[in-house]
Amino acid sequence: MTTIAILGAGKIGEALLAGLLKAGRRPADVLFTERYPQRVVELTEQYGVRGVENDEAAALADVLVVAVKPQDIEPLLDALAPVVRPGTLVVSLAAGLPTSLYERRLPAGTAVVRVMPNTPMLVGEAMSAISAGSHATAEHLALVEEMLASVGKVVRVPESQQDAVTALSGSGPAYFFFLVEAMIDAGILLGLPRGVSTDLIIQSAVGAALMLRDSGDHPVLLREAVTSPGGTTIAAIRELENHGVRAALLAAIEAAALRSAQLGRAHEPSA
Ligand SMILES: NC(=O)c1ccc[n+]([C@@H]2O[C@H](COP(=O)([O-])OP(=O)(O)OC[C@H]3O[C@@H](n4cnc5c(N)ncnc54)[C@H](OP(=O)(O)O)[C@@H]3O)[C@@H](O)[C@H]2O)c1
Repeated sequence: MTTIAILGAGKIGEALLAGLLKAGRRPADVLFTERYPQRVVELTEQYGVRGVENDEAAALADVLVVAVKPQDIEPLLDALAPVVRPGTLVVSLAAGLPTSLYERRLPAGTAVVRVMPNTPMLVGEAMSAISAGSHATAEHLALVEEMLASVGKVVRVPESQQDAVTALSGSGPAYFFFLVEAMIDAGILLGLPRGVSTDLIIQSAVGAALMLRDSGDHPVLLREAVTSPGGTTIAAIRELENHGVRAALLAAIEAAALRSAQLGRAHEPSA
């Protein structure tokens, strides 16, 4: 049985921990590390899993899942470097940290898989993209895929595409939240009470998302199905096109990818 240790059981770490247990992993096969003793007590009480120190996790676990904030990575790598055992798989959930950073800092040959998850992991609906480092094998990728499938959907991408992934699905939920916020305001403009407007838009978002995911139909077909000749939807679409919403999304997502690449360069050796 594979022992998995989650290093940094904050929001994302806890979501993965809960997903692994829900998917059938035994509490005895899952460990976590956390800085504050009170948080350790809380998580142990809630999930029946053991909180340990980082060096103990490295000694006991086959898979170390790094789920600390990127700014906390340096002290963690310092703590792990002398204790990571040969054969350990390191899985990084930390946004923007390249596998090369781990490979430079951990013992030679350490297998690393980089993951870009997103916040819907908190409700078991993550979109995670995984990339192999230079020593990660097909078995390592399959194991990480299986782990992350317990909290959502998983795709494999070359690491060079992780900036694009960050811009699309990493930041993606924020774009939808932004859109929903604006649509709720439109309801207010039309005189609806805020609560009603919110209910109308959130349920429409959920329904549209499920149709997109479950029908297998292209978004264009789904949109055309509610766009009648001379009707209300086409009047709205004309305004969206007039206001350049499609171009704005292309520019916004491109800007996010450029920013991701810029942040990633901070972890290059010369930086
Ligand atoms: N949330 C997101 O939207 C999202 C999406 C994609 C990727 N991610 C990635 O997921 C990672 C975690 O994000 P998060 O939102 O879950 O952050 P978070 O809630 O702050 O969780 C990180 C946890 O790690 C703990 N920690 C820090 N250093 C530690 C150490 N040396 N040993 C043990 N525990 C340590 C922190 O403790 P303290 O409270 O004491 O700092 C905190 O509880 C980040 O790298 C982020 O880039 C997050």
